[in-house]
Amino acid sequence: MTDPILPPIEEKRSYVQQMFTDIAPRYDLMNRLMTLGQDRIWRRTVIDLCNLPRYGRLLDVATGTGDIGYEALKRDLSLDVVGVDLAREMMVRGRGKVAGVSFPFATADALSLPFADNSFDAVTSGFMMRNVVDIRGAFLEQARVVKPGGRVVCLEITLPNAPVFGPLFRFYFFKVVPLIGGVITGQRQAYTYLPHSAVKFPQPPRLAEIMRSAGLRDVQYRLAMPGIAGVGTVAIHWGTR
Ligand SMILES: C[S@@+](CC[C@H](N)C(=O)[O-])C[C@H]1O[C@@H](n2cnc3c(N)ncnc32)[C@H](O)[C@@H]1O
Repeated sequence: MTDPILPPIEEKRSYVQQMFTDIAPRYDLMNRLMTLGQDRIWRRTVIDLCNLPRYGRLLDVATGTGDIGYEALKRDLSLDVVGVDLAREMMVRGRGKVAGVSFPFATADALSLPFADNSFDAVTSGFMMRNVVDIRGAFLEQARVVKPGGRVVCLEITLPNAPVFGPLFRFYFFKVVPLIGGVITGQRQAYTYLPHSAVKFPQPPRLAEIMRSAGLRDVQYRLAMPGIAGVGTVAIHWGTR
């Protein structure tokens, strides 16, 4: 059955682009509030899992306001980081937001990355995969541009199934988050789309299979918040090209 909250597949790309353009001014604030500040910890874990060498090249796909890229550079200023996204306004908000640290942003679609094969030591994406029309296609592109031996790391929401925590989290996610999102950003629709976009998103074992089918090996994942099987609300997957 189709979810009336979600756009038709053929309109999804432009819907997503417009939605992030609209919420860009308050995107960071809303992230901090609805994740209780945990999102920073998840992004640090993403960078740990990239296994980047000094002077390594990192591509952050769907970089938004650049938090993953900034996290990498806070760790190691020798890194060469590039961020790409569909929504220019998100990157405009991200540019210059961390004193003394900067990296280039460019407009690009995750399904057609404007980079040569084997260009990066690692490729990351944070909270993007729910928003693309072709998850495997996005991983294929990431696997193409990462060097052999390089990592592809994906941070994404996962809906918990555990008996008590599952319904509690769903209440928070489906009822409370749209209310807070509406007040903070004035875009309640975007924060209604958010939980609905997670419903049909592949569960962690299935997402790992999709990554393998895109040519990545040694694919693993870890759950966070609170991070117990069936109770995690965020999954971080990683694989090696
Ligand atoms: C929830 S935000 C995440 C931003 C950032 N990665 C973070 O961790 O905060 C999702 C981002 O994905 C971008 N996006 C969605 N579909 C995309 C696509 N096909 N290609 C590139 N960016 C895309 C959106 O414009 C938005 O900035």
